[in-house]
Amino acid sequence: MTSASDIPTHVITLTVNGETRALCCADRQLLVEVIRDGLGLKGTHVGCLSGDCGACTVEMDGKIIKSCLVLAVGADGSSMTTIEGLGTPDALSDLQQAFWDADGFQCGFCLPGHLFAARDLLAGNPDPSEAEIRDAIAGNLCRCTGYQRIVTAIADAARRARGHAGKADERA
Ligand code: FES
Repeated sequence: MTSASDIPTHVITLTVNGETRALCCADRQLLVEVIRDGLGLKGTHVGCLSGDCGACTVEMDGKIIKSCLVLAVGADGSSMTTIEGLGTPDALSDLQQAFWDADGFQCGFCLPGHLFAARDLLAGNPDPSEAEIRDAIAGNLCRCTGYQRIVTAIADAARRARGHAGKADERA
């Protein structure tokens, strides 16, 4: 049965992957629903809807969040990046390329959470230990890989980024 709080009565504005959009949403509508159904960005997945699996992860105003735990109205005015904003099939980000090269995913359902967690880790720690990588991705569940290839992919991405930084230093 539809209740009054299911009727879209709010207009919110979101800037997603650099594009600003106005959207209608209901009182209780979740941010992940608006991202998927309102914006058509299906790379953000719905898994547990309780904050446990990480499949719905996006970056909002510079912080990674689980979009199933945020009401759409609460995100009004925010700026966010979804997995579609990280790279494209023809132009993968360096981190996505490292996941690809290391077979760091299988079905891909958990990929948003792992990529955003890795990105966040590497932004503050360019040379993480395996324990630090495992700690950073701990809020994301993967049923396919057993995590080892994800850890390898993140370590490879870190190594490659340090290599590029080293070459830039040599040129300076
Ligand atoms: Fe949001 Fe699982 S769907 S954490």
